Parts: sequence; structure tokens; C-alpha cells
Amino acid sequence: IEDNMTPFDRLGEKTLHNLIDTFYSLVAQHPDLAPIFPKDLTETARKQKQFLTQYLGGPPLYTEEHGHPMLRARHMPHPVTPTRARAWLSCMNEAMDKSGLTGPLRDEFYSRLYLTAQHMINTPDSGE
Ligand code: HEM
Repeated sequence: IEDNMTPFDRLGEKTLHNLIDTFYSLVAQHPDLAPIFPKDLTETARKQKQFLTQYLGGPPLYTEEHGHPMLRARHMPHPVTPTRARAWLSCMNEAMDKSGLTGPLRDEFYSRLYLTAQHMINTPDSGE
């Protein structure tokens, strides 16, 4: 049965939610990221829980409430520079450490996020 578990099943909802809450507490303190995020990250974290649940093969919670993710388009109003992509990934890496994620599950999740983060870049570092 372990063979057909999704990454979402393997991680578990509780760990995923804890990871995301930890991640946004780091984003809120990061000098390159905090300025482009809302002060109150409650709603952002709620949407990210929905999104990452479906990204990891769990139920399509994000799409049910918000429609097709169109993630790159939804980031266009926000200047996502290479520096901010690195900062986002470093907050995620630290949140993964703090949430006790290890092994191949962590490595595969992080690798996918790395690629998605590169895809979100929409502004050069010099362009701001
Ligand atoms: C929304 C920044 C990468 C998923 C946002 C928002 C910002 C942002 C400023 C708007 C927050 C709000 O108004 O609530 C960034 C930056 C990234 C990045 C700087 C660096 C590369 C990613 C990645 C993912 C992601 C890799 C998914 C794997 C989302 C989702 C939302 C969001 C699901 C909510 C969209 C909605 O409004 O429905 N991001 N993001 N972001 N981001 Fe990112």
C-alpha cells in the first residue's frame, strides 16, 4: 500500500500545515520578501496550504475554491526577482529543517519547489 501513497499522504496534513506556517513566519522576517507580501499572512498561508496539498497529489483544494492556479500569472503583480526566488527557497529550506522533513520525500519536494520558484521569476534584479 505504501507504493501508491501520494507525497501528500506520506508527509501528512499536519506536517504540511506546520511547514507552511513556519515558512511564512520566516518570510515575514526576511528583508527581501516581507516588503512584497501582505502584513497579515493568514490568508496567504491558507491559500498556500490549499495549493501545496494539491501540488503534492492530495485533494484539489486550491482549484475548488480559486480555479486554475495559473501560478505564474498570479505572481505577475509582484516583482519576483532572482534574489527573491533565492530568498523564498532559503526560507523553505529552513522551514523544512525546523519541521523535521528529511530523506527522499524532502529532497523531491524541494527539487520541485526549486523548479517552480525559477518559473515564477518575472523581474530582473536590476529592474526594480
Ligand atoms: C502568492 C511571492 C514562489 C505559490 C504570492 C504572493 C506573493 C508571492 C507576493 C501574494 C501574496 C498575497 O497577496 O496573499 C512569491 C515569491 C516567490 C514565490 C517572491 C519566489 C520565487 C512561489 C512558489 C509557489 C508559490 C514556488 C508554489 C510552489 C503561491 C500561491 C499564492 C502565492 C499558491 C497564492 C495565489 C493566490 O492569490 O491565490 N507569492 N512567490 N509561490 N504564491 Fe508565491
